[in-house]
Amino acid sequence: GGNLNQKIDYVFKIVLIGDSAVGKSQLLARFSRNEFSLDSKATIGVEFQTRTVVINQKTVKAQIWDTAGQERYRAVTSAYYRGAVGAMLVYDITKRQSFDHVARWLEELRGQADKNIVIMLVGNKSDLESLRDVSTEDAKEFAQKENLYFMETSALEATNVEPAFITVLTEIY
Ligand code: GTP
Ligand code: MG
Repeated sequence: GGNLNQKIDYVFKIVLIGDSAVGKSQLLARFSRNEFSLDSKATIGVEFQTRTVVINQKTVKAQIWDTAGQERYRAVTSAYYRGAVGAMLVYDITKRQSFDHVARWLEELRGQADKNIVIMLVGNKSDLESLRDVSTEDAKEFAQKENLYFMETSALEATNVEPAFITVLTEIY
């Protein structure tokens, strides 16, 4: 923020991963700027946004990295994961395929990132309940088996976006 006197106690790098169009960039826009866009363009390369929050009386600057879900637009993987202490692995609750790919994303994440990284499985677009293609139970079961935190979110309606990021930041801390 604009407070020049703000003392930062920690800077935490968080990475967003998951298939194209699941809503990674809009989750980030919602968390960092409280914005949302329905005609969001596919991400090319890497972008990042920051937001500073207070957790347990400590000032934590979250530096959140966002890359393309599409292979051809993706960032160099090793650089993307380097130094990350948290990850949001996002799928779309209305696209079964995006959930079926979660295991692959997790494999890449575990291969590249620090072994203590805090991971949140995020089922986004919970506002589209009538189009649901992945049950909450299936996702919960997968998360439990793989030792991940889990939440369903809606970047559009701002449901659970704040809790999802804050949980990851709190667990890192
Ligand atoms: P890549 O950059 O290609 O990897 O995609 P992405 O995961 O960043 O997806 P993005 O955030 O660009 O969102 C893709 C589309 O889904 C856009 O049209 C968004 O407006 C829409 N979208 C994102 N979040 C939500 C949500 O919570 N609900 C609904 N209904 N639509 C959403
Ligand atoms: Mg994007």
